[in-house]
Amino acid sequence: MTADPARRAAFDLLTAALGRKAGLEVALEAPAFARLSPQDRGFARALAMAALRHLGPIDLALGRCLQRAPPDPVRMILRLGAAQLFYLDTPAYAAVDSSVALAEADRATRGFKALVNAVLRRLGREGLPPAGPTELAPPWLFARWQAAFGEAGARAIAATIAEEPATDLTPRDPADAPALAEALGATLLPGGQLRRAERGRIEEWPSFAEGRWWVQDAAAAVPARLLDPQPGETALDLCAAPGGKALQLAAAGAKVTALDRSASRLGRLTEALARTGLAAELVAADAETWADARQFDAVLLDSPCSSSGVFRRNPDALWTLRPGDIAKLAESQSRLLDAAARRVKPGGRLVYCVCSLETEEGEAQARDFVKRHPDFATAPAAPGDGGAPPESLTPEGWLRLLPHHMEGGMDGFFVARFVRPTA
Ligand SMILES: C[S@@+](CC[C@H](N)C(=O)[O-])C[C@H]1O[C@@H](n2cnc3c(N)ncnc32)[C@H](O)[C@@H]1O
Repeated sequence: MTADPARRAAFDLLTAALGRKAGLEVALEAPAFARLSPQDRGFARALAMAALRHLGPIDLALGRCLQRAPPDPVRMILRLGAAQLFYLDTPAYAAVDSSVALAEADRATRGFKALVNAVLRRLGREGLPPAGPTELAPPWLFARWQAAFGEAGARAIAATIAEEPATDLTPRDPADAPALAEALGATLLPGGQLRRAERGRIEEWPSFAEGRWWVQDAAAAVPARLLDPQPGETALDLCAAPGGKALQLAAAGAKVTALDRSASRLGRLTEALARTGLAAELVAADAETWADARQFDAVLLDSPCSSSGVFRRNPDALWTLRPGDIAKLAESQSRLLDAAARRVKPGGRLVYCVCSLETEEGEAQARDFVKRHPDFATAPAAPGDGGAPPESLTPEGWLRLLPHHMEGGMDGFFVARFVRPTA
């Protein structure tokens, strides 16, 4: 028996995704993955994503069949086998046989062939134990969401973990949205974006090459809209790559400076600017130490964060995050906010956002920022500002966008807007 390349690739993807090093995003761009046939790539990705989206219930089911923890590679093979049994249309015999072949193919797992066979056959016979939203999230994260958003909120968030998201697109010109919706067979979202049920090879979709739209989740499009740059204003995006928000600022007619410390990630923004015909000054630098004295009318800080709000597309983030990470990220967010404040002209405004569900990275940052910077004040959002769902508006005028706030789902984000009044 030989392991087929698609399942071997799914094994590599899952191992990278849960390995806390480069992660799934990098593994999907690795040369070995690109060399597979499109069909194998599609299956490998679908299989790894199914295992990640249902990791909670899969691990619960495996836990019932295993007396002691198997080595990690064996656990990965079992997770992929279970994902095929329960979440893909793979016939049971093929899910079991291909998993045994995967175990056979490597010296480290060969000795566990019989275990893989026995566990997967038993799972196939017994089925999955009943699991609700609570089982879909890592327990420690679920407990945090309960504390922050109540039992019903936490359950509603967790229920979206298993959902496959649609693809949201931002039109370069808002007036083009109805025509694009028709050409793409997409629906119009409240903020003026388009939602298409399909996923996959977007470069082949209508109007992609003409640069009339870019991919951007409905929630991710809210912060730049809340900043509301006016034509001719100067705008600084301090953590800009890969660049969806910088494109929005440029499309609104602002003179954009897009800074990111990763030159390679800025490369993706260079490509997107060329495709859309939009312009921005690109700077590869650290936002905290950038040696440039300019101040701007509008500053956007989309800070690095735990990414716990973007599990619909990056489910691995939930399982690789550790409790200690959040405090470290919060420290760096405070420093970046201080750096962003220095860049705002008197009379200018600042929008801070994170794709995180953790209050230390959101509400606590906004509260502490105005305490540390008495020259800034919250500029509260009004209902509907930025195209945000009404239920995301907090009493303070911040936006706490939760995945279940939009039908069909959206990413989780926190967004706050501040102004620096003229002295
Ligand atoms: C959440 S992502 C930004 C996404 C981007 N705003 C968009 O809409 O596509 C965070 C970015 O911050 C960058 N970054 C992290 N620390 C930084 C720093 N100290 N200075 C500048 N960029 C930084 C990372 O390279 C990463 O590209």
